[in-house]
Amino acid sequence: MNPAIAANPLTHPKDKIIVALDVESADEARSIFAELSGSVGAFKVGLQLFTAEGPRFVRDLVERGAKIFLDLKFHDIPNTVAKASVEAARLGVWMFNVHASGGSEMMTRTAAEVANVCERESIARPKVIAVTVLTSSNRETLAETGVSDETESQVLRLAQLTAKCGLDGVVASPLEIRAIRASVASNRFLIVTPGIRPSNATNDDQKRVMTPAEAVAEGANYLVIGRPITSASDRQRAVEDIITELSKPI
Ligand code: C5P
Repeated sequence: MNPAIAANPLTHPKDKIIVALDVESADEARSIFAELSGSVGAFKVGLQLFTAEGPRFVRDLVERGAKIFLDLKFHDIPNTVAKASVEAARLGVWMFNVHASGGSEMMTRTAAEVANVCERESIARPKVIAVTVLTSSNRETLAETGVSDETESQVLRLAQLTAKCGLDGVVASPLEIRAIRASVASNRFLIVTPGIRPSNATNDDQKRVMTPAEAVAEGANYLVIGRPITSASDRQRAVEDIITELSKPI
C-alpha cells in the first residue's frame, strides 16, 4: 500500500487539499474561504497575509471553522521559537511550521512547550512541521551558507532530525517525497507538499511540479495548492477536478 494511505487510511481526498491564501487582504481571503470551506481540508496563511492582517484575522478564520496551516517558518533562538509557537497554538491553528535548520534544541523545545501548553489550556495540539531546505535553494545557495553537501543529503539530514525531535513532519518538494519516506521510518511522519499542478493547469513559476495524484502516490499526506485553485475562473470546479484526479488510481 502506498505509504501516505497507510499513514492516513481514513483521509478523504478533499481533506488532503490545503488551499494557499496567497492574497493581500482579509476580504479576499475570507471570500475564498467562504467559497471553498466545505470543499477542501484546510487553508494556508503565509507571511504576506499574516503581515498584512495579523493574528486577529487568523483567529477570526479559526472561529469561522477554518483549519489553518500557519506558514510563518519560525527560525530564531529556541526560546523565541518555542514562545512564538505557543502563541500559534493559542490562535487555534491546525498546523504551523519552523525551519529545521534552527536545530534540535529549537525543535525539541518547541514541540515540548506546545504540547504542555495545549494540555494545560485544553487546546487541540497543532501539528508542528519543519521546512528542510527551501525549494528556492540549490547547491550554490547551500554552498554560500557553508553547507557543502548535495541538496538532497541536506534535505534528508534535516528530515531525520525533525523526526528525531518529535515533530509531526516536514514540508517537501514533490521530488523529495520518496527519499524522505525511505529515510524516515515512521509512517506517521507527515509530508506536506507544494509545487502541485493538476494535469490541466499551467506551471506558473513552479519548476519542479507533480500532479496531485502523483504526489499522493509518492507518499504525500497533504497538498498545498494555490493558484490552480485561487486563480481559476471557477474555483469549485477546479477543486472538484483535483478531487476526481485524486480519487482515480494511477
Ligand atoms: O500557487 P502555488 O500552488 O504555486 O502556491 C504554492 C504555495 O506553496 C505558495 O504559498 C508557496 O509559497 C508555497 N511553497 C512553495 N514551495 C515551497 C514551499 C512553499 O510553493 N517549497
